[in-house]
This record gives sequence, structure tokens and C-alpha cells, in this order.
Amino acid sequence: MKLVFATNNLNKLREVQEMLPQSIELLSLKDINCFEEIEETATTLEGNAKIKADHITNNYNYNCFADDTGLEVEALQGEPGVYSARYAGEPANAENNMNKLLKNLGNGDNRKAQFRTSICLNLDGKQFLFDGICKGDILSEKKGEQGFGYDPIFQPEGHSISFAEMDSADKNAISHRGLAIQKLVDFLKNLK
Ligand code: IMP
Repeated sequence: MKLVFATNNLNKLREVQEMLPQSIELLSLKDINCFEEIEETATTLEGNAKIKADHITNNYNYNCFADDTGLEVEALQGEPGVYSARYAGEPANAENNMNKLLKNLGNGDNRKAQFRTSICLNLDGKQFLFDGICKGDILSEKKGEQGFGYDPIFQPEGHSISFAEMDSADKNAISHRGLAIQKLVDFLKNLK
């Protein structure tokens, strides 16, 4: 079966392909000649994942899944959430996003946060949602050089280092995206 992953991020694509049975062939947006920007206009992660998956299924007639991720900070009522990529404005910039978050959080005691990934799968006319959550704390300053986005200021629960101090295999094993993708893969493997 051919299945589109609505991304052009080759790292994400390879990671998922390696977890899937060989009977499922993953295609990127480029593979199906989809080059237009898909506007993420929803106010929820689920909504944006659905917009992307539906765009591909409706316009290209493929089974497809799409993901969307946000960092939800408890003391900021779930901000930046669905607006994580462009929290500090355009163009998207990870340093500015982290600085804005640290400033807004100040020295508050409640530093609880979670990354959440939502995946929407369109399969043979039916729609399925999967999610993955990684709970942790926002550090008071940046630590580590690896990863991307908010990794330097996020310390996952039960660990004493930030995501940016972990190697990618260790991060993937506990991350929001890793957990959501694992649920999707288990579902696809069990299809009759
Ligand atoms: P996307 O939906 O995967 O593109 O993620 C949206 C935004 O959330 C990214 O631009 C990052 O700012 C942030 N983000 C998503 N996943 C991670 C992660 O694993 N670590 C740090 N930041 C992330």
C-alpha cells in the first residue's frame, strides 16, 4: 500500500519508514508532486493535522497522514500550543521563541509543560486520530546544543537533562512525536 506522509522532512520520513512493514510504501509531498503551501489555519493541533491530511486526500486521492506538534505550558494557559513555530512572529525563529517563552514565564514556580503531537490518518474513506504527549518542565535557561525548536529549555519528566542534551535515539524513545508515531505504526501493522 502507498501512504503519503504530508511532510518534506526526510528525517521524519525515514524514521517512520523504518518502523513500518515493507508492505507500506511511504511517499513524501515531493514524491506526489505536491509543492503548494498548505495553510495551517486551525486553532488546534488536531485541526491542522486534519487540514493537511484532507488536502492531500481530496486533491491527490491518496491515503495520507499528517502531524502537528505544539508545546503547551500550564502557567501560560497552554501557550504557545498550536502557535509554537511562530510564537515570536515571522519568520519562525527558535531562539526568539524560547526567549519570549522564558520572558512570559518569568520566575514563576509552576514550570510544568508538555509537548503534544497530533496525527490525523485518512485511510480508505475513514479518519483516525493519534496523539503523543511528553510531560516535563521549562528550565530557567537554555541547556544543550542538539535537537531543534524548544529542546534547550525543555526537560522531560524523570530526567535531569534537557531534550537538547539527549541524543536523538534517546529523545525519540520518549518524545511526543515518537509516541504518536508508535501508535500510528501499531495501528497500521494490525490492519487486516
Ligand atoms: P511541527 O508541527 O512538527 O512542525 O512543530 C511545530 C513547532 O513546535 C516547531 O516549529 C517547534 O518550534 C516546536 N516543536 C515541535 N516538536 C519539537 C521538539 O521535538 N522539540 C522542540 N520543539 C519542537
